[in-house]
Parts: sequence; structure tokens; C-alpha cells
Amino acid sequence: MKGIILAGGNATRLRPLTRVTNKHLLPVYNKPMIFYPIQTLADAGIQDILLVMGGSNPGDFVRLLGDGREFGLREIHYTFQEGAAGIAQALGMAEDFADGEKIAVMLGDNILEDNILQAAEDFKKQERGAKIFIKEVKNPRSYGVPEIEGKKIVSIVEKPEHPKTNYAVVGAYMYDPSIFQVIKTLKPSARGEFEITDVNNHYIREGSMTYEILRGWWGDGGESFDSLLEAQNLAAEWEKKKRRPMAP
Ligand code: G1P
Repeated sequence: MKGIILAGGNATRLRPLTRVTNKHLLPVYNKPMIFYPIQTLADAGIQDILLVMGGSNPGDFVRLLGDGREFGLREIHYTFQEGAAGIAQALGMAEDFADGEKIAVMLGDNILEDNILQAAEDFKKQERGAKIFIKEVKNPRSYGVPEIEGKKIVSIVEKPEHPKTNYAVVGAYMYDPSIFQVIKTLKPSARGEFEITDVNNHYIREGSMTYEILRGWWGDGGESFDSLLEAQNLAAEWEKKKRRPMAP
């Protein structure tokens, strides 16, 4: 399985922090934001990653990440998304890189405490389709929100005014190679973007979507100043816990 990290967009919601740099390079406690999703994919056993960059300083990503060996990766590839036409459009750029393999995708501003290795192993065995991750949140209106009947997700609504559940669809996804055909059928949404939620609804309709509920905390560093601050506080707590000496 190959990994794709999306670090495009203009991050207008975080200006002026993002006036001269990309939001994925902003600090989250002791590391740039982009380190977290890279580590999550590396910990899930993924060795080849494509980073889709955007904005005005793509060279900074290369200076920061180099060949990716620091994360235990075999290779890190870089490509550039002109404009900001959405997550699904950025993902469409990864077709040649994926080269017929399944893919694990993370948004460059998403920070997960959980290790998703088991989910990746399960998805490798899944015959076809997609897998998403969901997490209970206080402000579902800011996210893609799943409607759940029994244990089944029956649809996802992007930033609903009246959310049907308190869950958010997290920015971590797994797909089989059919995704690239699905992307080609999409139309831009009201906000002018090719939406990942439309891709996910395709697999829900097809009956080939599975999901996991995250147990640990999830931070979306790019959603607002408050979500960035929350991600920073959570990351600090997490780091300090990791460093706490073991009881004798
Ligand atoms: C995107 C997705 C949304 C998802 C969120 C997670 O939102 O469209 O479904 O819940 O990422 O971070 P955006 O950050 O583009 O507003």
C-alpha cells in the first residue's frame, strides 16, 4: 500500500499565520504539523509516500523533509497542486504514483494519537472499496458528518447545518485503485471544490465502505485558530506522556 499526504490549499482560515508560510509547516508543539501525518503513515507500515504540496513555498517542504529517511520511509516523492480545487482533485494527481496499488491518504493537518497499523492490515485484506475513520467531536458542523443506521454508515454530509450524529469523518482514508476512476466522475461542490465526501459517498452507495472509530484524540490543526491551539495542547500532553519516565 502506498501513502499520499495532501498539503495543498491556501489556509485562508489561518491568516495571518499562513501569509508567508504553508499551514502544514506551522508548529504543533515541538514539530512542524506535517511531521504527524507522515509518522502516522510510516507507523502503519507504509514506506513510499507522495506529498502533494500547494501554496507559495513548496521548496520549504523539501528542505524540511528531504528524502524522508528520518521517518523510516524508503522514498518520499513530491508533486505540486496549482490552485486549491479540493482534496479529491489533489488525490487525482497521485494516479501514476499509486500504480495500481491500494492507497492510504492523510490530510497534512490531521493529527492522530492512534496507530492505524491494524486498520491498514485489515484494509489490505478487504476485497475492494474504501475505509474511513470517524471520531466523536463537539463541532460536527465543521466536518464531513456520517449518518449511521445501526452500525452502518448510510451517507456522509459535508459540513451539515443539522448534523445527524456527533461524529466527524477524520482526514485519514484508504482506497482501492478504483478511486481514480471515481474522481474523474466528480463535479465541483458549492464551495468550488472536488470533495472527498463525494468519493466516500460513492463507496457507501456501492456497499464497499468500512470504517473505524478512533479511540485516541484527533486534532485537525487547520480548521481554525482554536483547533490549531487544541492540537498543540494535545500534542504537548502526548509528547510529555511519552517522555515520562517509567515507574520503578
Ligand atoms: C475536510 C473534509 C471533511 C473532513 C475534514 C477533516 O474538510 O472535506 O469531510 O471532515 O477535512 O479534517 P476541509 O478541511 O477541507 O474543510
